[in-house]
Amino acid sequence: MSDPDVRKQIEELRQQINYHNYLYHTLDSPIISDYEFDQLMNKLKELEAAYPELITPDSPTKRTGGAPLDKFRKVQHPVPVLSLANGFGRQDILDWYERILKIDPAVANADYVLEPKLDGLTVVLHYENGLFVLGATRGDGFVGEDITENLKTIPSIPLRIPIRGDIKPPEQLVVRGEAIIFKKDFERLNAELAQRGEKTYLNPRNTAAGSLRQLDPKITAQRPLKIYLYQILISSDTPPATQRETLEYLEALGFPVNPLRWYAKTIEEAINICEQQATARLEWPYDADGVVIKINDLALAQRLGYVGKDPRGAIAFKYPGTEVETTLLDIQVNVGRTGVLTPLAILKPVNIGGVIVKQATLHNFDFIREKDIRIGDQVLVKRAGEVIPYILGPLPEKRTGNEKPFQMPTSCPSCGSKIQKEPGEVAYYCVNSSCPAQLARNIENFASRGAMDINGLGPQIIAQLIDAGLIHSAADLYTLKKEDLLKLEKFGEKKAENLLQAIQASKQQPLERLIIGLGIHGVGEVAARKLASTFHSLDNLSQADASQLETLEGIGPNIAQSIVGWFQQPHNRELLEKLKQNGVWPVEAEESEQLKSKPLAGLTFVITGTLPTLTREEATRMIEENGGKVTDSVSRKTSYLVLGAEPGSKYIKAVELGVPILDENQLKELIYKQSAG
Ligand code: IVH
Repeated sequence: MSDPDVRKQIEELRQQINYHNYLYHTLDSPIISDYEFDQLMNKLKELEAAYPELITPDSPTKRTGGAPLDKFRKVQHPVPVLSLANGFGRQDILDWYERILKIDPAVANADYVLEPKLDGLTVVLHYENGLFVLGATRGDGFVGEDITENLKTIPSIPLRIPIRGDIKPPEQLVVRGEAIIFKKDFERLNAELAQRGEKTYLNPRNTAAGSLRQLDPKITAQRPLKIYLYQILISSDTPPATQRETLEYLEALGFPVNPLRWYAKTIEEAINICEQQATARLEWPYDADGVVIKINDLALAQRLGYVGKDPRGAIAFKYPGTEVETTLLDIQVNVGRTGVLTPLAILKPVNIGGVIVKQATLHNFDFIREKDIRIGDQVLVKRAGEVIPYILGPLPEKRTGNEKPFQMPTSCPSCGSKIQKEPGEVAYYCVNSSCPAQLARNIENFASRGAMDINGLGPQIIAQLIDAGLIHSAADLYTLKKEDLLKLEKFGEKKAENLLQAIQASKQQPLERLIIGLGIHGVGEVAARKLASTFHSLDNLSQADASQLETLEGIGPNIAQSIVGWFQQPHNRELLEKLKQNGVWPVEAEESEQLKSKPLAGLTFVITGTLPTLTREEATRMIEENGGKVTDSVSRKTSYLVLGAEPGSKYIKAVELGVPILDENQLKELIYKQSAG
């Protein structure tokens, strides 16, 4: 056979295969048998084996997955890949509508497209002259990971957009969609894995995400992944003006688009549709936790702008989490930081929306009494969004007679001390201030990220340290010795050294972090910052009286009383004394004349992303040493945003508010320039 003939035959085979692939995977209506399809594929493989020079990257034989990777390459998205705000129920959607109506009166005449909110992994597909050239994960919305080879294995993703009729693919096209696994495919996959004795997956979403983040595309190729596209991020042609036409256009190009969608003329109609789908969605072939309401007019949606990473032109109507029945095996009593006892339900493990739930909160003891919840009861458990699962109540009609009423503890389950109830409060307290459980919670708080941020000091190690009698308060952390740690289980040289180093490093934390770490009832981040900037040291703060504290913004009489009370407790005084001895005594510099003359005096900075040479701590220190302030969130008062690689939503916020942006070098120049002149 002559070369041009082979070339032609190969091209025809590819077209046929692509077409049948499209009929099967995208339209779900094949017109040839699997056997016939395999014949075509085998013929193509034979020819490509004989003429390897004719193999192209978009050949359907290239879908089976190439060589495994070491790691994924990062890719910058051409435009931010935004997220979506949530609304729970009618009122939230009406509130959203009112908000955007105020921004743009054209909203009054808006119409809407509604789509299932698919629970999968967002992906971004790039096409050049109709050829699939790059596919990425969403990542942080600015930078994702290159998973092109994995995406190529999804049969419904066109490797080349075919030219059909008068619809030609744009020279450049970037589209966004959601990769998912259908429920029935998920069950089949899990059954197969179980049969092979391999680990099964928990839910379709995790499976889809996990499959696409495989370094070996051959594994991805074995997963029953599907995809639906719903947004054009970039097009070199004029893109459709409405969401409705966008979906139709994507379909016409041969992309898989969810056939399930609704059109609503008014917001009322849109909400009604969402409510109607609340039960219907359980029958959908994939998991979806809501319906996305999108303003149809894309120019209007664009004009509305965004809040953080959420575009204003769309909102997700989310359905409440599912309620499931299971057995209450036991009620455990936990002791909190302030000694509050809280009941915890120990459940027969149950799958709620793909997550295995073993524990749930029972709120408080009154709840157990009022609902007459008994151990052994069948109970209803609910899990909604990210919140901790909770018990709704028992199902008394299912009782067998073997259920046991819950016995309210008369003593602390941790230390055996007396427990007390404050009149008028629902909570019971353990009154022993040196109760080991309270101590553990206190130290957990002290070491936590928002407080002293002691890396590696988690609940388990804290429990080990307390059990071994090595610490009796947070101050004792600073006198721990390597020999002590080495005696503990699972502690080697390296781990011990790292922990000691992290503990020492925490001495550098600013005063406000230490105040948070003390765990004074009612004193969170905002109050702690105020106290630190007003009193400058714990010496001063401990002298403050309630009337003085109450004058501070954000501190009411209750918190003021709680602060004064805390400093009066003898064991807290002892703790402070020891912290001071151990050198844990940050002092906030007063705005002295000296400070006012520093180059960055009066300026406020926010840092986002990874800087090229400085760590975040180093950059913070550099700014502070030069008289500037570093805060966590961007506001109109922010003087500069210091921008590094892979920034977060602070970047969008800064752009929105018009806050000036500096890179690391410009920051250094600013310090230099200011000090020079
Ligand atoms: S539209 C500007 N439509 O849900 C448009 N998102 O919780 C913003 N999602 O990150 C997104 N199904 O990945 C849109 N039909 C759908 C969706 C959808 C699922 C995802 C999306 C987003 C996440 C937000």
